[in-house]
Amino acid sequence: MNTRNRFVRRATVGAAAALTLAAAGCGATTTTSGEGEAGGNASVEEGFTIGLLLPESKTARYEKFDRPYFEEAVAELCEKCEVSYQNADQDTSKQQSQAEAMLTEGVDVLVLDAVDAEAAGSIVQQAKGQGVPVVAYDRLAQGGVDYYVSFDNKTVGKVQGQALIEALEAEGKADEGEIVMINGSPTDPNAADFKAGAHEVLDGQVEIGAEYDTADWSPDKAQQQMEQAITSIGADNISGVYSANDGMAAGIIAALKSAGVEELPPVTGQDAELAGIQRIVAGDQYMTVYKAIRPEAQVAAGMAVALATGEEYDGGGEFTVTEVTDADGNTIPSVLLEPTAVTIDNIEDTVISDGFYSIEEICTDAYADTDFCTSANEG
Ligand code: BGC
Repeated sequence: MNTRNRFVRRATVGAAAALTLAAAGCGATTTTSGEGEAGGNASVEEGFTIGLLLPESKTARYEKFDRPYFEEAVAELCEKCEVSYQNADQDTSKQQSQAEAMLTEGVDVLVLDAVDAEAAGSIVQQAKGQGVPVVAYDRLAQGGVDYYVSFDNKTVGKVQGQALIEALEAEGKADEGEIVMINGSPTDPNAADFKAGAHEVLDGQVEIGAEYDTADWSPDKAQQQMEQAITSIGADNISGVYSANDGMAAGIIAALKSAGVEELPPVTGQDAELAGIQRIVAGDQYMTVYKAIRPEAQVAAGMAVALATGEEYDGGGEFTVTEVTDADGNTIPSVLLEPTAVTIDNIEDTVISDGFYSIEEICTDAYADTDFCTSANEG
């Protein structure tokens, strides 16, 4: 018998569970509408299982932050709950089988960061068919999920584009040369939002000499695309590079360096990966986008616990629940967090003051002589 069936006769959630959730600050209130046909029969007192499906491991955030922060947030809301975790390594069919295995195991709710948002529609449908609700985590899976938490992804793209323009203007190069755009994976709806946001800012302001979408967000493919761009545009004529994330920025910067470029053009990024911050400190990368993953994971945990126990997630006074329309036209109650641009000027006020990294983590031996690290150590 799976865990769900054990609770199947409990139609509504008791007041005690609602109080526990409220006390734990998970932002759930008792639902009066009998919301959704899925889930809702589990209790925080007895505990239940939450399936967490993350998309890949080349980008550092998932194993380093998303997974541990999510597990911590669940433990805070529901001591007896378990998280069943799988990473799909950017493989759509692997994610499908991982989800199926979790549904067979009898998870009570799924938190899904889709490799391919369209293909994930079938995971969502399958889960719903079995009465298991789904939270779309970071990427909006199709198929009518119950809740969605992410960042304002169009703003992420705008922030990247704006930073690139500011860097070019500061160098007096806004009207010179061409920029290269290296976007994320076409199966990730966030990548489309980043790209659209960036184009909104860049179009008409700079000349875009070459643009690529990068399957799987692969740093190696980004490196090859950059090599192609260098061949077609000429290294000297590249004034800046829009890279959608830090992982790809690593490949892009490697391509520029191996083409003999000594003065690197401004390169953007995203995720505030430790290696990205270190490249900024070393002067190799111009900026990254810091997305505070702890609140994202906390909201996801709050949504998951609310769904499994038949509550409505209301943001707990801390987060605003808005509505987002998915690619199938469904209206999804969502929390969208704000991203922050990080350059050498505000590393201290962002990732360090937020406790994402310490100075010691950033200023390892290889970076000890940089201006940033010497003045940080003096201060
Ligand atoms: C995430 C980014 C990440 C990228 C590659 C996007 O959906 O929002 O933070 O860099 O996927 O995994």
